[in-house]
Amino acid sequence: MARSIQVARSLVALERALLRLRRSGKVALVPTMGALHKGHLTLVRHARRRAGRVIVSIFVNPTQFGPNEDFGSYPRTFARDVAALAGLDVDLVWAPNAEVMYPHGFATRIVPEGPARAGLEDAFRPQFFSGVATIVAKLFAQCRPDVAIFGEKDFQQLRVVTRMARDLDLAVKVIGMPTVREPDGLALSSRNVYLSPEERAVAPTLYRVLVASAGKIAAGHPIAATLADGRAEIAQVGFALDYLEARHAETLAPVGSVRDGPIRILVAARLGTTRLIDNVGV
Ligand code: PAJ
Repeated sequence: MARSIQVARSLVALERALLRLRRSGKVALVPTMGALHKGHLTLVRHARRRAGRVIVSIFVNPTQFGPNEDFGSYPRTFARDVAALAGLDVDLVWAPNAEVMYPHGFATRIVPEGPARAGLEDAFRPQFFSGVATIVAKLFAQCRPDVAIFGEKDFQQLRVVTRMARDLDLAVKVIGMPTVREPDGLALSSRNVYLSPEERAVAPTLYRVLVASAGKIAAGHPIAATLADGRAEIAQVGFALDYLEARHAETLAPVGSVRDGPIRILVAARLGTTRLIDNVGV
């Protein structure tokens, strides 16, 4: 039987809950935008192993969406999310609204550089990492976690948040967890619900191409030619490709050969109106 779970919606309620939680050991935070799936829940289970107390934040952050993106239609399944978290022994759900996060007069933004300017997601979503860095810094300041768990699914985001925590001397250990996938390889994503049955059938091509490209590059095939083949295959099944790139896994800087590694291959592509991202290590 799932037990009842505490939900804080105001900073005062959060502070009161934290006073209690922090008395009994380490606190882990799992930041999310809700519409929770098995990928999110894997992060929560890992948080449970890393700390005695677990906070999950649910906030669909308007400042990381572009004007033509899906903020309005982003799936919101709060009651179902809270029920799933109650079954995982989560101590607190932090669920502020936009007025709590961005009260009247709010006028500060963190503008990350380095991995946030790698020419990957940032090239297609110019406001995205500034929105993410600002909200994650606020979540860290509000919840003061000892550890924070993020998914490798959003690999550039993981690198940006890790860098930011280090650069701003935030006393939180940022931990990345492997991507959870459907049996056919498609990375779980809150946005997969947008896919039509036909789109869903071709979506795993992204992961197939990533794995094949990683295998070829590891075996010494030239990176440029390998990626050119991969791009053609992705376009051929009907995706509009934003990028398929091989980058240094830490800095996200371009790499010339397998000797410049460790290498991560990252992809973003659109099927109809749905934009999917994924990545694998070489
Ligand atoms: P959201 O897309 O809800 O993702 C929350 C966390 O779940 C992120 O760390 C993401 O990388 C991880 N995640 C998503 N799909 C995953 C999968 N298939 N396997 C493993 N982990 C997965 O990322 C955000 O929210 C926001 O940008 C946020 C960090 C909360 C800031 O608003």
